[in-house]
Amino acid sequence: MSAPLFEVRAARKSYGELVALDDASFRVARGQMLAVLGPSGAGKSTLFRCLAGLAPLDGGAALLHGGDVAELRGRQRRRIAVVFQQFNLVNRLSALDNVLAGRLGHVPAWRGWLRRFGADDIRLALECLDRVGLLEHADQRADALSGGQQQRVAIARALAQQPDLIIADEPVASLDPHTGAGVMALLSSICHEGEGGIAVICSLHQPELARRYADRVVGLRQGRIVLDVAAADCADDALEQLYGAAPLAPAA
Ligand SMILES: Nc1ncnc2c1ncn2[C@@H]1O[C@H](COP(=O)(O)OP(=O)(O)OP(=O)(O)O)[C@@H](O)[C@H]1O
Ligand SMILES: [Mg+2]
Repeated sequence: MSAPLFEVRAARKSYGELVALDDASFRVARGQMLAVLGPSGAGKSTLFRCLAGLAPLDGGAALLHGGDVAELRGRQRRRIAVVFQQFNLVNRLSALDNVLAGRLGHVPAWRGWLRRFGADDIRLALECLDRVGLLEHADQRADALSGGQQQRVAIARALAQQPDLIIADEPVASLDPHTGAGVMALLSSICHEGEGGIAVICSLHQPELARRYADRVVGLRQGRIVLDVAAADCADDALEQLYGAAPLAPAA
């Protein structure tokens, strides 16, 4: 069997005595959207920080096309794009300039410093803004956009990286329910439309959004994967157990 697009294998991470990730394993296929659910403190952000390369795992590995993401360097690192809860745009820059930041790993550093992007990069950035429905806002400063629009610019910036995988820790937590559903629909369409076969891993606190937009649902509790099902099979009782108060049995 060929390697999946992305695989987390026996991931472990501790903060001192506290085990935040405990032997967590799951796979994501090309073109698949995976939602990570779990109560507060389950280890979701810890997992995403490690996947984004912002913190090392203590054990196990995250593999992109079978290669350890901890060893991705330079341009290869751009194959994983990150979308943040708080959007992380540069407020004083236009939407277009924020999206062009997604090209920084692709152009020589001096061109990035001088913001001298080529016509191809600008065309791609405009296409990405069009993809998220914000082409007419290309010149607008980021801080003059609504939260939902800012998150769409952040998704366009991620797309401009031409990634294989987008990871997003609570991408809709700062948005109202309607706007959040729109951002989830956009992420889902990015996975499911086109030849690219981009995969998305996102964490959520809204199981109904996971069931509606994701293909698979992974449940994390006390650092352990306790649920890994097709979204269509994610039953209410499984969610009750995931969020329930009963402590987990000690790890074998
Ligand atoms: N930098 C850190 N130092 C020490 N402990 C940490 C650190 N970051 C997280 N933790 C602890 O690790 C556990 C997992 O935290 P994490 O932030 O990954 O949970 P989460 O699932 O993202 O929660 P939430 O849904 O509230 O965002 C928690 O017990 C938390 O207190
Ligand atoms: Mg978190």
